[in-house]
Amino acid sequence: MPLLEVTNLNVTYGVQRALNDVSLTVNEGEIVVMIGPNGAGKSSTIKAVGGILAHAGGRIENGDIIFRGKNIKGRRTDELVKLGISFVHDTHRVFPSMTVLENLEMGGYTLSGNAAVQRKIDEVIALFPRLGERKKQAAGTLSIGEQQMLAIGRSLMLTPALLLVDEPSIGLSPNFVETIFSRFVEINRGGTALLIVEQNTRKALELCHRGYVFEIGRIAMEGTHHDLLENRHIRSIYLGE
Ligand SMILES: Nc1ncnc2c1ncn2[C@@H]1O[C@H](COP(=O)(O)OP(=O)(O)OP(=O)(O)O)[C@@H](O)[C@H]1O
Ligand SMILES: [Mg+2]
Repeated sequence: MPLLEVTNLNVTYGVQRALNDVSLTVNEGEIVVMIGPNGAGKSSTIKAVGGILAHAGGRIENGDIIFRGKNIKGRRTDELVKLGISFVHDTHRVFPSMTVLENLEMGGYTLSGNAAVQRKIDEVIALFPRLGERKKQAAGTLSIGEQQMLAIGRSLMLTPALLLVDEPSIGLSPNFVETIFSRFVEINRGGTALLIVEQNTRKALELCHRGYVFEIGRIAMEGTHHDLLENRHIRSIYLGE
């Protein structure tokens, strides 16, 4: 049984249809990416899974979203977090007036006891030492790259089985992109599956085990890391070769 199974998802914004019969899976331990041009429906898909589509003015008309055998369609993010799904948004990543430490503590709000919270904070700081150096600083004063690290760190506080990330590299310098992508590999090695929307096609395909290519509200192609990197259409259209 896949960890996550999305079947025939149809999403609309008012009268406009954004997704047509999108089906995808994420297996335990996998890194799966969604790529494709602007407006193709990647964010709509990840928002539907992550329970924030309604906030964005969207509606699931049809389809199922099954996580560990349970239908989670329409569940709120706080319910999803308890089930093991964390979401790193493409905007509003951190609480700007709170310190780095307070942001991390917020992420671990359901942990019982300070020791458990401290243990997770130590793990996050081991992954992102920069956050340790900045722990007393207000999150709003961090660079965009550091804020992204904090958003990812916070999302790890409850040890998710599935981490959803929309556009992790947006606004980041190449150095930060490298750091963050190598941390995704580490997070994945720790047992967390990842579903990532990424604009940087080459980086996304290099990172993933499998990927889905979106075109105009539907999935045009899917394949393994190798299939997609070696596909002629992808190489010419998306990798500019
Ligand atoms: N809040 C909204 N209201 C109306 N239409 C929306 C809204 N959000 C997205 N859409 C429309 O839904 C379609 C899919 O958009 P979506 O944001 O899912 O694409 P995307 O693949 O994430 O694109 P991008 O790469 O630009 O982030 C587009 O036609 C878009 O204009
Ligand atoms: Mg998007």
